[in-house]
Amino acid sequence: MKLRLGVNIDHVATVRNARGGDNPDPVRAARLAQDAGADGITAHLREDRRHIRDKDIAALKRDLRIPLNLEMAATDEMLAIALKHRPHACCIVPEKREERTTEGGIDCITGFNRLKPIVGQLTEAGIRVSMFIEPDRKQIDAAHSLGAPVVELHTGAYANAFGEARAHILKRIVIGAEFGAGLGLEIHAGHGLTYDNVGPIAGIPHIVELNIGHFLIGEAIFVGLADTLARMRRAMEEGRR
Ligand code: PXP
Repeated sequence: MKLRLGVNIDHVATVRNARGGDNPDPVRAARLAQDAGADGITAHLREDRRHIRDKDIAALKRDLRIPLNLEMAATDEMLAIALKHRPHACCIVPEKREERTTEGGIDCITGFNRLKPIVGQLTEAGIRVSMFIEPDRKQIDAAHSLGAPVVELHTGAYANAFGEARAHILKRIVIGAEFGAGLGLEIHAGHGLTYDNVGPIAGIPHIVELNIGHFLIGEAIFVGLADTLARMRRAMEEGRR
């Protein structure tokens, strides 16, 4: 099965917001990524608007031909925004104000009752819902019971680990992907992926989409977004083989 690449453009907005104003424009980056063959664009509208802002979501929805995946916390505010803009997909993520980035998966077990109506309303609106979770059987089971058709397995711990610890986490991701696919879920993965660590994740046959942001935007500073995406695509394809 083809492995899709979703490009997260949040950190173009991080640079823009460092000075205020409009440059660099994350929507321009999204269009460039689209022209360079990205399969989708991902953007996280955080509660504190530290990178992507409301007007970016409206512009992305208006300008893109490829699917928009809105990452969002499970709050009433974000639900209303998602229902207004109707992106192709929403990925439900946990969010803490103090964290530098999304530090772990959302807990679909303890949060079940709060998450259920949000997943339901997004689904009713025709939005494909994905739960960003740790590669844990109980979480995958709970995400499935919530009615989400997709899970995105958090690869942050894998990316941060070395040696045997990384191999151990990779095994959990492999088992989780197989388990989720067996339940009929579509399996995505993402967080912390780079040219060097993407191969083993891309090699997991049940995974159909990777969402990658920070590394791609950083590399693009040196060689441009199109070359960066082409090289990431090659690394993914090598891993897939
Ligand atoms: N997937 C999800 C659900 C995320 O929250 C993020 C970070 O915003 C990513 C993928 C991309 O992670 P990174 O920027 O480390 O590539």
